[in-house]
Amino acid sequence: MNLTGIDAITYGVEDLKDARRFLADWGLKKVRSSAQAAVFETLDGGQVTVRPTTAKALPPAIEPGPTLREVTWGVSGRRALDALVKRLGKSFEVTLRKDGSALLTDPMGMAVGLRVQKRRKVKAAGSPANTADRVQRIDKPARVYDRAEPVGIGHVVLNVPDLAEMEAFYTGHLGFQVSDRYPGRGVFLRCRKRGGHHNLFLLQLPTGKAGLNHVAFTVRDIHEVFGGGLHVSRAGWETQIGPGRHPISSAYFWYVKNPCGGLVEYYADEDYLTEKWRPRKFQPSPELFAEWAIDGGLDGVSRRQRAAKAG
Ligand SMILES: [Fe+2]
Repeated sequence: MNLTGIDAITYGVEDLKDARRFLADWGLKKVRSSAQAAVFETLDGGQVTVRPTTAKALPPAIEPGPTLREVTWGVSGRRALDALVKRLGKSFEVTLRKDGSALLTDPMGMAVGLRVQKRRKVKAAGSPANTADRVQRIDKPARVYDRAEPVGIGHVVLNVPDLAEMEAFYTGHLGFQVSDRYPGRGVFLRCRKRGGHHNLFLLQLPTGKAGLNHVAFTVRDIHEVFGGGLHVSRAGWETQIGPGRHPISSAYFWYVKNPCGGLVEYYADEDYLTEKWRPRKFQPSPELFAEWAIDGGLDGVSRRQRAAKAG
């Protein structure tokens, strides 16, 4: 199917100034900014666009308030994109945009963009780990990060009203692979046979409410998860939970509340899967969400855990 990953995302926001300040603190590079929109980039050229919720250029929202309005997937080349659009056009209404990208809507109403990949290969070396069996760092201290510079947009997590319908759309029409699942509750999907554990996680909450759960940004290594989280915390943004570690996907994480909508996550060291991988089934539990995690985050000034709220 030739999808290569998330090339861009677009948010509709209530306060453009706040959104700009947050995305800069998050470590994204500002590419352009006006009263109508701001565009930021990850190191690999993944784009984050923010526009006021009232902007006509925005696709419809899946929930009230600030939220994600579009996920734009990269496609390996023009021919692959044309073929995909032709095929999708048989089942869905697909709009071709002036910039050469295509737009359709998934079953829950989220705009799905498709464009020839603009992301570039980037050298963003993490510090190799010295493990019991493998010394990879000799005469070289591991890096300490003052703040993060996200390498790319790794995954999006959506709260979906109808899991089966959404899974069928992404696997059946866009070629996503199932990586793991919580039967009846959630499914981890990756857009390529070989790649990071998930680019998309669909979660059906008991309420059945549609919404953005979070967007996750890849950083170089575990140390950048810590450095980035501490920096955004010092900049005054609120941690939801993190640092911590997901047993499913193995990644280290840090989740922060995003004024653009939902949460954002720094993550590093996720599992890499191939066609040999067999999807697993799990029952949802706090232990599977996090082997360990710090509720409310670390205080970047005193280096201690913040006082967790009672209850
Ligand atoms: Fe995540």
